[in-house]
Amino acid sequence: MATTFTPRVFSGIQPSGGLTLGNYLGAIKRFVDMQGAEFETIYCMVDLHAITVWQDPADLRKNTRELCAGFIASGIDPESSVLFNQSQVPEHTQLGWIFNTVARMGWLNRMTQFKDKAGKNRENSSVGLFAYPALMAADILVYHATHVPVGEDQKQHVELTRDIAAKFNHDYGVDFFPVTEPVIEGAATRVMSLRDGSKKMSKSDPSDMSRINMTDDADAIAQKIRKARTDPDALPSEVDGLKDRPEARNLVNIFAAMNDSTVEAVLADVGGKQFSEFKPLLADLAVAKLSPISSEMARLMEHQDEIDKILARGAERARALAAPILKQTYEIVGMVGA
Ligand code: TYM
Repeated sequence: MATTFTPRVFSGIQPSGGLTLGNYLGAIKRFVDMQGAEFETIYCMVDLHAITVWQDPADLRKNTRELCAGFIASGIDPESSVLFNQSQVPEHTQLGWIFNTVARMGWLNRMTQFKDKAGKNRENSSVGLFAYPALMAADILVYHATHVPVGEDQKQHVELTRDIAAKFNHDYGVDFFPVTEPVIEGAATRVMSLRDGSKKMSKSDPSDMSRINMTDDADAIAQKIRKARTDPDALPSEVDGLKDRPEARNLVNIFAAMNDSTVEAVLADVGGKQFSEFKPLLADLAVAKLSPISSEMARLMEHQDEIDKILARGAERARALAAPILKQTYEIVGMVGA
């Protein structure tokens, strides 16, 4: 009989720069929605993943704390969710090593994120960047997490996590790791650049005008939306009308996600309007939703000792969940003393 697993959500974000609207709509906002009775929720600042590309130590410290502030300011309650940074729970790297022996070179070679990040300079990228998805599988499976909310760009990594779980279970003849479900839902699972509708909104884009940062003030948010690239046509009333209009689709998706609505409902409302009318509506909505978060983040950042206490307490709770699962894994694998 198949084992039943406690419904448990795990997800992580790299503290490798400021948070963007993409991280907020594609991840954090959905993490908040999953908090509650149905699932245990575990959210992590994946600092060990961040250092697979160079991070200045002072920036990494600041970004980790700022990310924690971002989680809390957005509505993650550190009592009902487990909130911590990855490096403080060594079980992640311990299980990650086991998964390095389960994952195949061929599987990792197919990962598009590695190809994108390594670019033409594969020979000079870190071994950690290549092995990154095995550690990500460990993040998830060290808690036997059943559901992983992520943006579209992480789908391939969650699928690899499923492959690793299945191969481990098969090789050792056990039904030990769950085959985790990626949860990729809503209107904003892939928020695009405000300057180029074919590129993902990203903290690493050289143009600051391409993204909305969670620390942007109201003026910056409004200006970036005003200057966002669009086409000359009016908005359509039906979803079909967004075909081949990536910039229009992106702004409508952002509006829908931010307003907890659907693209259909938004278009029913704004269909026929020009961008000159729609953009101010979007800017007002974005400012109304994001300003309280950025001001709360700034307030929390003035109390770093509180943030550090929250992270320490979260790591303790995370270890209590992860340690027995790692111990059982070691026993299955045949480690004497486990
Ligand atoms: P990261 O840090 O790049 O991004 C964090 C989350 O934000 C989502 N995201 C977006 N969603 C929609 N539109 C965008 N433009 C956009 N940009 C980012 C990402 O999909 C992600 O959900 N490998 C992960 C971190 C990680 C992780 C894990 C995630 C490590 N271990 C275990 C889940 C479970 C990453 O680099 O995300």
